[in-house]
Amino acid sequence: MGRGTSSLRTARLFLGRNPLSRRAIPAYVKVLVVGGGGREHAIVEALRRSGAEILAAMANQNPGIRRASKEILLGDVNAVDRIVPWAKDHGADLAVIGPEAPLGHGIADALEAAGIPAVGPTRAAARLETDKAFTRDLMRDFGIPGLPSYWAFDALGPFEEFVNDTDFEFVIKPVGLTGGKGVQVWGDHFATKAAALAYGKEILDKRIGGSPRFLVEEKLVGEEFSLQALCDGRRLVPMPLAQDHKRAYEGDKGPNTGGMGSYSDADHRLPFVSKSDYEQALGTMEKTVEAMASLGTPFKGVLYGGHMNTRDGPRLLEYNVRFADPESMNVLPILEDDFLDLCVRLTEGRLPSAARFAAKATVCKYVVPTGYGTHPKAGELLKVDEESIRRTGARLYYASVDERRGHVHTTTSRSLAVVGIAENLEKAESVSEEALAFVSGTFYARRDIGKPEVVGQKVERMRRLREG
Ligand code: AMP
Ligand code: GLY
Repeated sequence: MGRGTSSLRTARLFLGRNPLSRRAIPAYVKVLVVGGGGREHAIVEALRRSGAEILAAMANQNPGIRRASKEILLGDVNAVDRIVPWAKDHGADLAVIGPEAPLGHGIADALEAAGIPAVGPTRAAARLETDKAFTRDLMRDFGIPGLPSYWAFDALGPFEEFVNDTDFEFVIKPVGLTGGKGVQVWGDHFATKAAALAYGKEILDKRIGGSPRFLVEEKLVGEEFSLQALCDGRRLVPMPLAQDHKRAYEGDKGPNTGGMGSYSDADHRLPFVSKSDYEQALGTMEKTVEAMASLGTPFKGVLYGGHMNTRDGPRLLEYNVRFADPESMNVLPILEDDFLDLCVRLTEGRLPSAARFAAKATVCKYVVPTGYGTHPKAGELLKVDEESIRRTGARLYYASVDERRGHVHTTTSRSLAVVGIAENLEKAESVSEEALAFVSGTFYARRDIGKPEVVGQKVERMRRLREG
């Protein structure tokens, strides 16, 4: 048994015997957190609430994570051979992996081999995100509901034939990781058969996503929602639903981004997702987890389903094998159970049947550099009045900023996020706006996210889709 595992066991034994504060006891549990974005700042904050000590491995100096960490390793988050021995040397008991890329590089396998249990799937189980063709074939072979029509191509000839014979709209997806920017949708990114062929050729020629292979799927129409769940290989513990906003500009216009912000509602659903839609989406994820276990590659970590609620019910757009960014910032701050305890249970295959979240709505808005999505402007000074933001009741999560001599500067990625939390969406949205007023400098943020009239339009669109 590795040192990490035994010290975790000691922590738990102690926890069991001591009727006093649960929070204070596992203070010596050291957790490696990989990643330096807003998502990882929220993960670090939740772990700190449980009393964990943080060992942070990240590419950038995230000031929020830096201040909350005992030790920091700066550098490439995919450098498994560097991160794992560092974590071992510093006595990590557990690891939580933020981004997908290190999981695709086998960081969870290497950590397990070093005696450090990880919240994050093995490389084989991470295929649910890293290989979209694998996921679609799995859904087909196991009869998992929520599967759109799809076709796989690795040569231009058959794709040409397909395009010439097709009279419906479709989307084109490289099978590998593209940082959320590889999918092209008919009507949004291309509008002719010639353009579709050109993109197919480009994926094959440039190996976009890492291999000369792509999927074509029927174009689904509806409202997207994110369902994140903790998974111990067998059991799924769902978190509140949230909706991300991928487009750069207000009104869901402009280029796709990593996500400009997100909201969740006090009842942990979304107003355009019925109970039966929710149950179907969760059912899709449960059957996927069963299928992975039966293949001998059980999924342990956070499974995040991106679903499209269509006229005919939810369809799975994609899986991600990690917390969502920004939607992690909607769920982690309202988690009422002990996050560290859930993480330990996850790695040991004994998650409880449910986790408790406060009955609060949340609205997360990202502050990004001007030009984000096309030509982001790095190096702009941001003034963040942390104390005033705290007084509004909002949370502040730093992301890809550079901190130099106490000053925060933009990079080309998202800078920081504010999260309003309140008893309903309207109030949560106004708290997020109050907090944004205490960030100054040159930046952009989508102000429409979570606004009641904008959410109302989505509900209305869904109603028309289902009636029409
Ligand atoms: P993915 O990386 O697979 O989530 O795709 C990124 C985005 O492309 C999704 O959030 C959707 O907006 C869109 N998308 C993916 N698949 C489809 C589909 N079959 N129909 C319509 N839109 C899709
Ligand atoms: N919410 C988008 C992502 O985490 O990939």
